Amino acid sequence: MTFSRILGTGGFLPEKVLTNSDLEQMVDTTDAWIRERTGIRQRHIARDGETCVDLAEAAARRALDAAGLTANDIDLIIVATTTPEQTFPSSACLLQHRLDIHGCPAFDIQAVCTGFIYALSVADKFIRTGSAQRVLVVGAETLSRIIDWTDRVTCVLFGDGAGAVVLGAADEPGIISSHLHADGAYRSLLQVPAGIGNGYTGSPYMEMKGNEVFRVAVTTLGRIVDETLEANGMERSDIDWLVPHQANMRIIQATARKLDLDMEQVVVTVEDHGNTSAASIPLAFDRAVRDGRIQRGQTVLMEAFGGGFTWGSVLLRY
Ligand code: ACO
Repeated sequence: MTFSRILGTGGFLPEKVLTNSDLEQMVDTTDAWIRERTGIRQRHIARDGETCVDLAEAAARRALDAAGLTANDIDLIIVATTTPEQTFPSSACLLQHRLDIHGCPAFDIQAVCTGFIYALSVADKFIRTGSAQRVLVVGAETLSRIIDWTDRVTCVLFGDGAGAVVLGAADEPGIISSHLHADGAYRSLLQVPAGIGNGYTGSPYMEMKGNEVFRVAVTTLGRIVDETLEANGMERSDIDWLVPHQANMRIIQATARKLDLDMEQVVVTVEDHGNTSAASIPLAFDRAVRDGRIQRGQTVLMEAFGGGFTWGSVLLRY
């Protein structure tokens, strides 16, 4: 039987940092409010003209280096993004061109904050079925482009960045299981209304009913933790690391409590990155691999919740 495992990781953040005190100059907010409600201190923002593909390329090159591979070893590219560089070609095709790879399949996945979990799950299935051997999986976002910078409810939460992994075929897991869900009935709680289909008549910026999103996120993430453990006959104590989507410190703490995990076993980047949507999990994972916290052989639970609503998890042995 074939499984997939992570061969290398990479991350990239734009140089420009926007702090809470910078935001105090832009909207009616305070550093104390933002920290207390979200845990966020700062976020990185792409400079003018810097696109999700620029960020994706930098993260992808670092992941390839870490895996000891070159771009030509890759036989599938999947980019999770909600903020693509252009309507088409896909950001995956644009990334493929940047990496000078020709001919392998490349496509985007759009599941907002759950995008990386969806992409990793799809990549795992390609490898398990023998359709691919080495897959570049990237989560890359320039959320700053769909933020109304006069709306204090949303503009304090989000940031830009990219994270990547190279997934390769292996004799044992690797990815143990993945669990994906969606329910479009929640559209009105979190959306960017404008689109091609409605002639861009709605707002081009994110609209969010924050406390309702918060409530559904906490209960849904609790359920996905149970589902993942039950599917694998595992106990909470079998999990070494939680790498959650980085939306809000209080949501992360609620999931950690559900798992009975000490916060030392939870990888947290939300203070420094804000919510980078599909990029948040691979950025957090890369940080904890590079600083030596996550070690080969350890069991890692990744989980995410986002617009759609979409939600899901990946359980893996690193
Ligand atoms: N600064 C100061 N005050 C603010 C700000 C701000 N930036 N934003 C809102 N407020 C005010 C509100 O206007 C409200 O004032 P009022 O009581 O006078 O009406 C008050 O603060 C409380 O607002 P709530 O929305 O009830 O505050 P809450 O404690 O729910 O925190 C937050 C808001 C941080 C948005 C929280 O609901 C949250 O994190 N929700 C999850 C949203 C999220 O993560 N979305 C991302 C996509 S989905 C995902 O990734 C999970």
